[in-house]
Amino acid sequence: MGLKLVNILALLVLSSLASTTTSQFVFDVTSSIYGGKPHSDISEGLASAWRDACASESASKVVVPSGTYKLKQATFEGPCKAPVEVQIQGTLQAPKDRSSDTWVVFRSIDMLTVLGGGTFDGQGTHGSKDGDIKDIRFSSVTNSIIKDITSLDSKKFHIGVSDCTNVVFHHLTITSAADSANTDGINIASSTRINVTHTNIATGDDCISVGEGTNQLLVTNVTCGPGHGLSIGSLGYYPDEKPVVGVTIMNCTLTGTTNGVRIKTWPNSPGQSTASDILFEDIVMVNVENPIIIDQNYCSGDEDRCKHQTPSEVQISNVKFKNIRGSSATLVGVNLACSSTVPCQDVELDDIDLTYYGHEGSLTSQCFNVRARITRVAKTLACANLPGLPSDNSPPPPPLYDYNSPMIYSGAPDCNSYWWPRQSVMVHLLISGLGLWLLKGSP
Ligand SMILES: *[C@@H]1O[C@H](CO)[C@@H](O)[C@H](O)[C@H]1NC(C)=O
Ligand SMILES: *[C@@H]1O[C@H](CO)[C@@H](O)[C@H](O)[C@H]1NC(C)=O
Ligand SMILES: *[C@@H]1O[C@H](CO)[C@@H](O)[C@H](O)[C@H]1NC(C)=O
Repeated sequence: MGLKLVNILALLVLSSLASTTTSQFVFDVTSSIYGGKPHSDISEGLASAWRDACASESASKVVVPSGTYKLKQATFEGPCKAPVEVQIQGTLQAPKDRSSDTWVVFRSIDMLTVLGGGTFDGQGTHGSKDGDIKDIRFSSVTNSIIKDITSLDSKKFHIGVSDCTNVVFHHLTITSAADSANTDGINIASSTRINVTHTNIATGDDCISVGEGTNQLLVTNVTCGPGHGLSIGSLGYYPDEKPVVGVTIMNCTLTGTTNGVRIKTWPNSPGQSTASDILFEDIVMVNVENPIIIDQNYCSGDEDRCKHQTPSEVQISNVKFKNIRGSSATLVGVNLACSSTVPCQDVELDDIDLTYYGHEGSLTSQCFNVRARITRVAKTLACANLPGLPSDNSPPPPPLYDYNSPMIYSGAPDCNSYWWPRQSVMVHLLISGLGLWLLKGSP
């Protein structure tokens, strides 16, 4: 008994110490100052609470306690004087008939934390085809953490990340109906050092889409499905797109998605751009329609663009697909359809193990405008449409045959095509052949 009391006292002392050393000013949206009440609109109260928190000289916290609240719109705008935490414990409901392109935005904030286990309910059950709608936007946010949050039924894209640096997104849950339109989970563009980890995404479009100007993105331990998969792109739609460099997608599981890991670029690009240093590693596919795909002929929702086909001008290089296993829902397990103007450079397939359980035939692969380096891949998945490519246990290619050099391409653009070695290689072969003949012929 006495011991218990001492323990409890010790705990009390400890916890009071803790609360003074980590004290934050708390701005509770349901306090009398801000007047937020469940089932009513808290837009104004939340705006005031944010204004006060952001002006606070020391660390502060905005709290939305548990309960369901309506929220017309929210703008969390910095810069703030000290780190701010936004703790959403309850559910925030968007108006069903809103017309703006953003519901909640966090802008120009350093050292932001968003957490609390709460839900952003966009109430957009069908998705949308109009405009650049992103329910929740992070714009010019730096050195921040977004975690333990759910985004439900967005109107179009769930979360948009742009012009952000050093931001971690983890333990998020993102959910839309499988048949909703354009409900991308997280769209990242013009951002550097973004990590997305331990996140479950089930939507009607890409779970994660990576746009122009993305650098050093790390995606790990993400589950995706249903949805359109983990996509880099679509790229090459606008003029002057900035490069995508350094994307690592690791330890992810895709279930029942229309694509697995994908790079997609538009034909008829208005300018040149690049996507490079991309690694897809340790990925599990469960019944995925296009498990491994580079699609440089991506055309969706722009009839004009799709009509007259000139090849994409997005140069894709240094792409590794490593340790990718599981099941393909279609016959084509690997589809590398690169541009005929700028063939993919330095593409590697290593340790790919996919199975097809359907009854329509056996698993195969196709590759256009690319010479992949292939190791530990069954022949059927090793660019089966191109005879003579190295695969499992095949001897190394002859030294003159450079699989990574650009090849001269012949044939109709983006149709089944053949590759011929570069002219210089041909000349080289001819000369060394002649040399050998002369050498042998001489006494
Ligand atoms: C992202 O993950 C990498 C690798 O685990 C880590 O080095 C880096 O610090 C993380 N970035 C942030 C902003 O936490
Ligand atoms: C991913 O999950 C595995 C186990 O499920 C764990 O070992 C690993 O540390 C996780 N990665 C990150 C970056 O948290
Ligand atoms: C991937 O998961 C394995 C174990 O499941 C873990 O050892 C490794 O650290 C993880 N890698 C990343 C980048 O999360």
